[in-house]
Amino acid sequence: MKHRLAIAGIVLATGVAGFLLQARVREFNSASPSLAKTEAEKRILMVVEEMVKSQRTYLSVPVPDGKALRLLTEAAAAKNVVEIGTSTGYSGLWFCLALQATGGHLTTFEIDHRRATIAREHFKQAGVEEMVTVVEGDAHQELAKLKLTIDVAFIDADKAGYVDYLNKILPMVRPGGLILAHNVEMVPDYVKAVTTNADLESIFYMEGGGLSVTLKKR
Ligand SMILES: C[S@@+](CC[C@H](N)C(=O)[O-])C[C@H]1O[C@@H](n2cnc3c(N)ncnc32)[C@H](O)[C@@H]1O
Repeated sequence: MKHRLAIAGIVLATGVAGFLLQARVREFNSASPSLAKTEAEKRILMVVEEMVKSQRTYLSVPVPDGKALRLLTEAAAAKNVVEIGTSTGYSGLWFCLALQATGGHLTTFEIDHRRATIAREHFKQAGVEEMVTVVEGDAHQELAKLKLTIDVAFIDADKAGYVDYLNKILPMVRPGGLILAHNVEMVPDYVKAVTTNADLESIFYMEGGGLSVTLKKR
């Protein structure tokens, strides 16, 4: 009897600890300006938070993926980030959190005029408008005009276009650079492309919306 009670106690304690840990992780997976290290970071995070509250996002990445974008970009000391699929600027602001620390620039493509206009407003509100170029138009065509060495690329637009984007971007990505793509479970041909190319190494971060992280080998 004593033995059974002890086991029940351990199971209960483990369950409670697990529940508390999950609650802590859930709380941490928010874009809290109170954790900002600088005023610039705080200003960006306030816009990020406000965008979610006021629902001025459109098919935007969830917070864990936003954090991943920021973390990878800052760790790569990226100077040039290219994003395909700006929407209203939410993921762009996560990139800006890294770029204000690395002194880098974001070039982001959006086909929809209304969303591109809202994104520009958000970048201005966050004080990062000088750090961002929003290119309006079809990225399949606009990418051909790009003359950049890319440190980090992020694909988050029309799913049918992912492989075309990859093929267009790859020659511009520096050796050691990263190609990120969102909602990868919806694009098996893209997953196949990045997992069967000997020049690439990929991992998949499925905490949020499904993010592939692909290294262009040196
Ligand atoms: C999933 S949303 C992007 C979300 C954004 N990355 C974020 O997290 O806030 C996809 C966006 O890609 C844009 N898009 C779709 N096809 C495009 C194309 N061919 N060229 C440029 N943008 C495109 C859509 O208009 C839409 O705003």
